[in-house]
Amino acid sequence: MNATQEQLKLKLTQALVAAFGEDYTSTDPILVSASNPKFGDYQANVALSLSKKLGKQPRIIAAEIVSNLDVSDICEPPEIAGPGFINLKLQTSYLEAQLNAIQVDDRLGIPTATNPQRQIVDFSSPNIAKEMHVGHLRSTIIGDSIARILEFCGHDVLRLNHVGDWGTQFGMLITYLREVYPEALTTANALDIGDLVNFYRKAKQRFDEDPVFQETSRQEVVRLQAGAEDTLHAWKLLCEQSRQEFQIIYDLLNIKLIERGESFYNPLLPKVVENLATTGLLESSQGAKCVFLDGFTNREGNPLPLIVQKTDGGYNYATTDLAALGYRIQEDQAKRIVYVTDEGQSNHFAQFFQVARKANWIPEDVELVHVPFGLVLGEDGKKFKTRSGDTVRLRDLLDEAINRARADIESRLQEDGRVETEEFMQNVAEVVGISAVKYADLSQNRTSSYVFSYDKMLSLKGNTAPYLLYAYVRIQGISRQGNIDFTNLGINRQILLKEDAELTLAKHLLQLDEVIKEVEQDLLPNRLCDYLYQVSDKFNKFYENCPVLKSEEPARTSRLMLCDLTAKTLKLGLSLLGIKVVERM
Ligand code: ARG
Repeated sequence: MNATQEQLKLKLTQALVAAFGEDYTSTDPILVSASNPKFGDYQANVALSLSKKLGKQPRIIAAEIVSNLDVSDICEPPEIAGPGFINLKLQTSYLEAQLNAIQVDDRLGIPTATNPQRQIVDFSSPNIAKEMHVGHLRSTIIGDSIARILEFCGHDVLRLNHVGDWGTQFGMLITYLREVYPEALTTANALDIGDLVNFYRKAKQRFDEDPVFQETSRQEVVRLQAGAEDTLHAWKLLCEQSRQEFQIIYDLLNIKLIERGESFYNPLLPKVVENLATTGLLESSQGAKCVFLDGFTNREGNPLPLIVQKTDGGYNYATTDLAALGYRIQEDQAKRIVYVTDEGQSNHFAQFFQVARKANWIPEDVELVHVPFGLVLGEDGKKFKTRSGDTVRLRDLLDEAINRARADIESRLQEDGRVETEEFMQNVAEVVGISAVKYADLSQNRTSSYVFSYDKMLSLKGNTAPYLLYAYVRIQGISRQGNIDFTNLGINRQILLKEDAELTLAKHLLQLDEVIKEVEQDLLPNRLCDYLYQVSDKFNKFYENCPVLKSEEPARTSRLMLCDLTAKTLKLGLSLLGIKVVERM
């Protein structure tokens, strides 16, 4: 609901009370957007729902509400239509005043949250020595956008990278490291052990084929847990190597994150089990310590346990998440914790959330949200793979997008006979390539799987990053062409709305606050994408129908202002998706 809707709602409630008495103070006026612009902008449907209670015809009720309704500063005189709808049409002068006001505001009139909170977004979270795959890419892109939006709303956001940097696989990796790079265990300097994924594969191979290697690996896990110096050294080395590889991706995507990996919570794990024991929830099942879950059963229909300590005394992914949860609530003082992972982990989150709730660890004012997302598919509709069937390296994927964007810009320049510098072309290619990948992901409802297609995401047509960027560039082009300084359009500048296309665009520009509020709540960035796509679309229609530089004053300045406000809206909106703009492309 935007500020205008809120005002209208308030005035409608006042009218209800004035017409029917104090009992109606909390009656919802049922204010919705008009189904058809012909009927105005909004309609209130409350008269229909009160008919029975008041024993009157809805049209009569509507008339009584309207005669008590004063919206003269916002709307044209309300009209009653059909069986008893109250139609409201915003006054042009009201819209103009709103636009003129937000035009000069850096935040485009969007207020910050009335209750700013400490919120945590747990996202990206790849695993050490393993491939950072497309699932992590989605988490990174979606999580970053959510964090940006929450930050813009004024929340104090902690962006946490819950890196998988602990677990029994390190026994195997360190054992292999000792075999092939013995010097790595003693030298102080970091060592480049090359492609970690390959390293992991080879270590796994050794592990699978050799029982002695397996036993050594097991001992290595024990040494790691006990904090043996050389083992820790090797562990740190592996983490550092992975970290450097992840950082390349984060730099390319312009992502800021605080690393707080699983290992951070190690000292807290025994406490998790102890605490659960005191609640009486903890049970033993075949030597493992666990909590039985409501609503989760195994194939035989028996209740499913969440294991928090294995038979061998070790802890697992869920124990770590429980420890992290406690820490985030108590130490970080988080009021909302958002986890961004693929939907394959939905049960994991539902399960440890349930255990934490049962144990009374979650205060009433703390909200836990799992933000799940679907798969990335290849154009054949199957799991996204390289042509040879391997998993796609994120580096290669992003480079490919940039290279294709580069080829696009070069061919467009050639067609237009334009000459640009190398620096210019490379910058456009990087911005467009990365934006295209991010936007293709964000513009989908995250819960559905999407097909990864370079051709589609880089197209200048359709709901794509290049289409939005192009609308922005077009506006900058107008300013260059007319030698216009948007920041200095004169003191008498006023937005005046005459043409339908102007009104349509203007009304849409005024809806950004509502969209942002929605995303803050529902954590669905695709809503913001849809909104920005509409902005570009409505701008293009306006630009086709209303000459800007060639029109007479005062329309000329007004239209320039509308162009500028469109550009500002696109730039702000895209920045919340983690997407940069270019001035020319
Ligand atoms: N490292 C995990 C994975 O790659 C994701 C971690 C998500 N965050 C969490 N708190 N469990 O699947």
